[in-house]
Amino acid sequence: MKTLTVALPGREYDILIERGLLSQAGERVRAVLPKARKLAVVTDTNVGPLYYNRVKAGLEAAGFETAVFVIPAGEQSKNPGQLARLWEDFMEFGLTRTDGVVALGGGVVGDLAGFAAAAILRGVAFVQLPTTLLAQVDSSVGGKVAVDLDHGKNLAGAFHQPRLVLMDPDTLDTLPLPVFMAGMAEVVKYGCIWDGDFFDFLAARPSREQLTADIEHILYTCCDIKRQVVMEDELDTGLRMILNFGHTLGHAYELAGRYEQWSHGQAVAAGMCAAARLGVSLGVTPPEVPAQIERACAALGLPTRISCSQEDYAAAIGLDKKGAGADITLILLDKMGRAVPRKMPRQELLNRLEAIP
Ligand code: NAD
Ligand code: GLY
Repeated sequence: MKTLTVALPGREYDILIERGLLSQAGERVRAVLPKARKLAVVTDTNVGPLYYNRVKAGLEAAGFETAVFVIPAGEQSKNPGQLARLWEDFMEFGLTRTDGVVALGGGVVGDLAGFAAAAILRGVAFVQLPTTLLAQVDSSVGGKVAVDLDHGKNLAGAFHQPRLVLMDPDTLDTLPLPVFMAGMAEVVKYGCIWDGDFFDFLAARPSREQLTADIEHILYTCCDIKRQVVMEDELDTGLRMILNFGHTLGHAYELAGRYEQWSHGQAVAAGMCAAARLGVSLGVTPPEVPAQIERACAALGLPTRISCSQEDYAAAIGLDKKGAGADITLILLDKMGRAVPRKMPRQELLNRLEAIP
């Protein structure tokens, strides 16, 4: 088994990675929650039928009383109404401050259940059992939990670190291919921002079969990078911003496709390619880098260019918002494997976006 420790003072936790680990959920959760009696397991309509029985059997064998709360699969469930329903359900179940919440699913379940745990009874313990590639390499680690508002994604949330992140790479076998590849966009991002050798390793493995054969190494490498970033900047005021590489422009592309045409991962892929081209035009990024990222994304079936109106670019970079500061911090690469923040006036960014190839 591969183990990483997120060593935050007073909130330290392990990330465990091993094939078949879901079957050990009971004993592993018991080790971090020795006094808990009840566990509220939150999952969704796709993941529950696939994995809940196995998790429940393990948790009950370890002496927990469990109840399952199943939300409809998809981003629409990450809303304040669903959050309030979970809180009422937890109270009906009789959850107390020494009990816990388990998130079994992708980033939607993790963000929603994590936020529910952060505020119920002023905060109870929670455990992440991530089942998508995106959740395993990104959202289950670092403690950002949130719901979406009508005004935008992730606008109401908290930092609430999990007590344990237990990832079973075998769960990725049931992911639809587009969902797997959307997670790969975030995996490629780690290579771009932190580790050029890892980028080359990924670029040499463009098929799902090849990636799956090395999945434990891939999960470990991504979580190790995220762990280091979070340990240095838990509250996202500095270094953690490098995780946004490709995301500002990716947000514009999600908007351009009205959140239907392009998944988040697809939009981030095109966003990384555009940020690399922009970096070249600013004299920050070496000229060969955009083609490297484009080749890696294209080989994974991810888009490298998405057309976007100036209005959508303007909205995504906050030019339409009251009170948006004049400057925006954009994450660029000054070489493959190293991210640098660059502040620039929002209007200048908009003008440059029009001009990038
Ligand atoms: P998701 O949770 O919607 O999962 C994608 C789809 O895969 C869903 O239909 C789900 O039911 C299904 N699924 C999940 N696991 C499965 C499995 N093993 N087999 C078959 N189907 C499975 O989406 P996601 O991509 O995992 O997460 C996206 C969310 O994560 C967004 O809301 C985003 O804002 C959030 N996020 C949070 C952070 C953070 O730091 N908290 C970071 C990145 C993204
Ligand atoms: N996914 C970005 C972050 O955790 O900060």
